[in-house]
Order: sequence, then C-alpha cells, then structure tokens
Amino acid sequence: MRENPLVLHVLGARPNFVKAAPVVRGLDELGVRQGIIHTGQHYDALMSDVFFADLGLPEPVANLGVGSGTHAKQTAALLVGLEEVVEAQEPDLVVVYGDVNSTLAAILVCAKLGIPTAHVEAGLRSFDRGMPEEINRIVTDSLSDLLFATSPEALSYLATEGVPAAKMHLVGNPMIDSLFAALPSLDSSRLEGIPARYGVATLHRPANVDTPEAAAELVSAVLEVSRQIPLVVPIHPRGRARLAAAGLVDGPGVKVVDPLGYVDFLSLVKGAALVVTDSGGVQEETTMLGVPCLTVRPNTERPITVTHGTNRLVTPAALPAAASKALADGASTPAGELPVLWDGASGPRIARVIAAWLKGENLSPASRNGRL
Ligand code: UD1
Ligand code: UDP
Repeated sequence: MRENPLVLHVLGARPNFVKAAPVVRGLDELGVRQGIIHTGQHYDALMSDVFFADLGLPEPVANLGVGSGTHAKQTAALLVGLEEVVEAQEPDLVVVYGDVNSTLAAILVCAKLGIPTAHVEAGLRSFDRGMPEEINRIVTDSLSDLLFATSPEALSYLATEGVPAAKMHLVGNPMIDSLFAALPSLDSSRLEGIPARYGVATLHRPANVDTPEAAAELVSAVLEVSRQIPLVVPIHPRGRARLAAAGLVDGPGVKVVDPLGYVDFLSLVKGAALVVTDSGGVQEETTMLGVPCLTVRPNTERPITVTHGTNRLVTPAALPAAASKALADGASTPAGELPVLWDGASGPRIARVIAAWLKGENLSPASRNGRL
C-alpha cells in the first residue's frame, strides 16, 4: 500500500449521508486521508445540503451533478462521471453505502478499474427483485472486497451467495451512530404548528407511489389513519405529485410539509405516537427510539426491526386497523433485545477495520465479529 493512502466515499442520496458521517468521523480520528465524491443523485437543498450541515460532513471533493432520470439514464451518467473522477483521484479504497443507484454505479466503476471497495450495510435482502434496491444490493455485495454488515442475518445471506467469511465484518449500524449523536439535539418544539399528539408518515417507494392505483389505495388508508390521529407528512419529492393527486393534501388531520432536515425529522419522529413509512432507515430509527412503526410494504430487508424492534409490516388495507391497535397499545416496547452492536460505535469499528486493511494487516476473526 502507498504511503498516506486515500479513501474515497461515494455518496449520492439522503440515506447515504446519514450512514457515512460516522465512518468519516472514525477515519478522521485515525488520521486516514479521505474525501467525499457527491454524485448529485439527490440535489435539492432539503435532500442534500441540510444533511452535510446537520451531520458535520466535510465538503465533497467533487459533485458530479448527475441528477434524476430513468434507471438507465441515471446509472449511465453515474458510470461516466464516476469513472473520470475516481481515475483522477487514484484512491486506495472506495467506500459505498446502502443500496441506491450511486452505490451500484460506484461498485461497477471500481471493479472495472481494479480499485478495492468496501460496502457499508452489506447483506440486507428483501428477496424481492421487483425493488430496484435489491438488484443494487446483490450486485454491490458480489463485487465488494470488504463487506460491513449491520445485523447477523446479513452474514448468513452473504455466505449463501458465496461471499467468503474473510471479507465480512459484523460492525453494527452506523445509521444508529448518527441517531445517537443527534439525540441531545432532538426537540419537537423546533417545529412549528405540530399538534401535541400526532403521527408521522413518510412514503416514497416506487411500488407505493409510482402508479395512480397504488397511490390511491395508500392515500385512502393514510387518510383513514388521519381520522384517528393527526398526521404530519414530510413529503419525498418522488411521491409529491402522485400522492397529492390521490388526495394527500393539507386538510383536517393532515399537514403536508417539505422533506425535513435530519435533526428536524428525527425530532418529529421521536415525539410521534406512531410512524407510517416505507423507508428503510426509518424502520431502524423507530426501533431505537421505541416509536411504533407500521411499514407499508410486503417485505423488509431489515427483519431485525420486526423481531427485535417496534416495526410491523402492513398492507394498505390493514393499515387503519394496525394504526388503531398501535395507538391503543401506547408507547411501544421493542419486541426483544435491541439489535446487537447498534450501540453508536459502528463508525469507529468500520474505521478500525479499514485502517488495518490499508496497512495490509491480516484481519483476524475478531475484526469480523465486531471485536477489533
Ligand atoms: C432513491 C433510492 C432509494 C432511496 C431513496 C432515498 C435508487 C434506485 N433509489 O430513491 O433506494 O430509498 O433515494 O430517499 O437509487 N427528486 C427531486 N429532488 C432531489 C432528488 C430527487 O425532486 O433532490 C425527484 C426527481 O423527480 C426524481 C425522483 O425524485 O426523478 C426520484 O429520485 P431518485 O434519486 O431517482 O430516486 P428516489 O426515489 O429518490
Ligand atoms: N429523513 C430525513 N427527513 C425526511 C425523511 C427522512 O432526514 O423528511 C432521514 C431519516 O431519518 C433517515 C433517512 O432520511 O435517516 C432515510 O432516508 P430515506 O427514507 O429517504 O431512504 P431509505 O432509508 O428508504 O433508503
């Protein structure tokens, strides 16, 4: 390995920023040279800039400005942009996060350039290839050199797919590091016009919002919930038009707001009596905050939030009754022990493995189960 090796993080979408911040901080503390490449997949100030500010992320060394498009157009722009900037930067390791198109493109580019890669949040599987993210997860994991898993079942899925144990490291969940770091700042009085008792809804999965039929079914269920408890709905730009057309607009019991910054959003969630979502990360955050979460999806790549947390999967048809039950049951206790290693120390754990790998050290079994 070169003197003073360089680690690059490729980030593009809202959840990437939340997962990367603790890893960047951990590497900083170990004095590792690093930089962020922002692909520009998310570009609105409320989908990007606010996260850099709230999470204390450094300015990217480059922003590719790829923007939106069909999967092919967006991924193609990502491939072309990333190839150029990664080649110019000559990193020793590229770290990618989660399951978005920026993650997939970065892994493909690096694999073809022969640049080693690490995947944070490896091994999650919904076993639903209708989800674009599932394709991204499978391809990313199959091409990564270091795989950082947030939960034990991920290791078994990776093993089934033929990933050697020596590449896998159970490190816990860096998204939860970010949550723990934000906890002292969380305060729902930061937000104006929020009822004393309320629920939160966030919805952006293509299967829920991309067709008028799916949006209509979902909105009708959400409006029924809003007759039980007022709902605040920070709206992802993807669903904005379709959900509004289906009737999800400001009205009695519904307050639709722009996407919220990270600290504002978690403040809202922490104070909520109920969360209705199809987000990946929000399933994990509600588990840790002990807030009942109803996930409107047929499956989840995060089953640990159901077995060890406050999350329940529901169909749109079952949502109103499930909400009524969750509200009657009151503050939710997790289903079991909280997930192992979701302790706020995942960023430093990942950083220690990366630093050891950069030095060419032999990574011991201890480093693979969170004990480096
Ligand atoms: C992406 C991820 C998804 C993740 C989500 C997090 C993929 C395939 N999907 O979905 O896994 O859960 O991010 O939020 O990578 N838009 C804006 N402003 C922005 C960004 C997007 O208006 O700053 C609008 C555009 O109309 C765009 C649409 O949102 O077409 C979708 O954006 P895109 O990045 O393609 O996918 P997401 O739905 O955000
Ligand atoms: N989030 C946010 N503001 C919002 C909605 C979500 O800060 O209005 C945060 C949320 O706390 C979590 C992350 O964004 O940390 C999850 O991103 P998203 O739901 O967009 O993506 P997913 O996790 O589904 O991939």
